[in-house]
Amino acid sequence: MAAFIGIDLGTTFSAIATIDDTGRPTIIHNEDGENITPSCVVGTSSDVMEVGEFARRQWGNAPETAAARFKRDMGSSEKYPINGQDFSPTQLSSFVLKKLAAFAANSVGEVGEAVVTIPANFAHEARDATMEAAKMAGLNIKYIINEPTAAALFYAFKSGEELGGVYAVYDLGGGTFDVSIIRVDGHDVEVLAANGIHKLGGDDFDSALQELVRSKFKEATGGDLESDDFTKNEAEEEKKALSKRKNVTCRVARQMIDVSRTEFEELISTYITQAEMLCEATIDEAGITTSDINGVFLAGGSTRIPLVNESVTKVFGQEPVSTVNVDEVVALGAALYAAYKGDHSQLSTVQKNAIQKIKVSESAGKCFGTISIGHNTARDQAELSNSILIRKGEKIPCSVTESFYTVYEGQEAVSCKVTESTSAETDPRFVKIIHDGELVLPPGRPAQQEVKVTFAYDDNQIMKCSFVDVDTGRETVVDLSMASSDGETSSEIDKFLVE
Ligand SMILES: Nc1ncnc2c1ncn2[C@@H]1O[C@H](COP(=O)(O)OP(=O)(O)OP(=O)(O)O)[C@@H](O)[C@H]1O
Ligand SMILES: [Mg+2]
Repeated sequence: MAAFIGIDLGTTFSAIATIDDTGRPTIIHNEDGENITPSCVVGTSSDVMEVGEFARRQWGNAPETAAARFKRDMGSSEKYPINGQDFSPTQLSSFVLKKLAAFAANSVGEVGEAVVTIPANFAHEARDATMEAAKMAGLNIKYIINEPTAAALFYAFKSGEELGGVYAVYDLGGGTFDVSIIRVDGHDVEVLAANGIHKLGGDDFDSALQELVRSKFKEATGGDLESDDFTKNEAEEEKKALSKRKNVTCRVARQMIDVSRTEFEELISTYITQAEMLCEATIDEAGITTSDINGVFLAGGSTRIPLVNESVTKVFGQEPVSTVNVDEVVALGAALYAAYKGDHSQLSTVQKNAIQKIKVSESAGKCFGTISIGHNTARDQAELSNSILIRKGEKIPCSVTESFYTVYEGQEAVSCKVTESTSAETDPRFVKIIHDGELVLPPGRPAQQEVKVTFAYDDNQIMKCSFVDVDTGRETVVDLSMASSDGETSSEIDKFLVE
């Protein structure tokens, strides 16, 4: 039987998990026996890419040969050079996924359906790019799941049947911050509200600490540090030490630089405040108050920072529930989700019994709409406006159809725009256009002809939109999911050997 796997494709570290014979989610170790693998890629020759700890060290020592933190640019046109050759975040992610899948193949034999996790606030193209990367890596992937939802699923599973009511998930990793308010009933997880900050995480704390040490060095010696004198990796090590100790001494270019936990906390305090504000907004959005929250679950390595713990306690009015493996809970939850969504005939009876109580329902993380010409009665003029078809918070999967009408006689085409926004914004200037197409109409049409617009949002929070000219039945279908375009892509990374 093929094993179901869940992969947490993290900004700094990735993890892979499966469901063991007893139906429990378990982490699959990497070749070094570690539970998490650095999401770093190094080119050791023109066609060999190494992923993991060696790549992480190379990224610190010889950054031009390696790439890291590319998850932050998933779905963008940003390129990362490795030895002069450009790679997209999608390609780099697929190297990491391919490597993780190899650990799984070594450990569980046949790798079956896989689920990869993404931050809750990932935009449409970043979701798509993640699916694409998984396909390029040769994974059998049908679903992606939001990281905090996966974490919640794991916590709910672990605690057995006991959970009931509203909970919060606070996920602060290496690159992103996510907060979700969920309703849990036994193994049944429903997302009420979710928000995130795309570029807020441990990586920013490393940069801030690196800067502090550099400026302290300058103060002490009058000189500047060389770029390889106090690398990001070294800063990260000192940061982790500060979670345990009140002071650290960094040895930098034969100089001793002291940093106290208090100084570090000051450095990151604006980030923590931003996270606090987002937690408050998310609590509001869920229509609850902190007294309704029965528990707060932590995920992400950065929640080990004592100040983060204090901040969570303050915002939610209670001590969070944590586990030693905050950097594994997302992958473990993803493995559960893979089994839950997958073909149950691949499960043993014991596994089936463990999984069958699970239920997960997600809601739309953003608003989706289309731009049409409406009549502004106040100013008595035609005006472009954004109409929301799918609202943030709507249960998914869902499908919404609305009618729009052509404006003038002889109109030759209808513009088919798809917009994405974080709130129900009507002003087209403040929304992101994620698709801009056209539906051509036959000649000689009178005005006020109906065009039906349908937005269908699937389990992966990926959208399909159709614009139908009702009279002729002509249709423009926008499949905003590249994931359904099979084939070809895998060869793109197949020419590289991933080690
Ligand atoms: N003891 C610690 N103290 C402070 N930070 C820590 C500690 N342990 C791990 N971290 C930080 O946690 C981050 C990694 O956490 P995790 O693996 O959950 O993130 P990720 O999955 O890579 O990122 P994301 O989920 O944002 O994409 C790194 O920035 C790491 O330095
Ligand atoms: Mg993570």
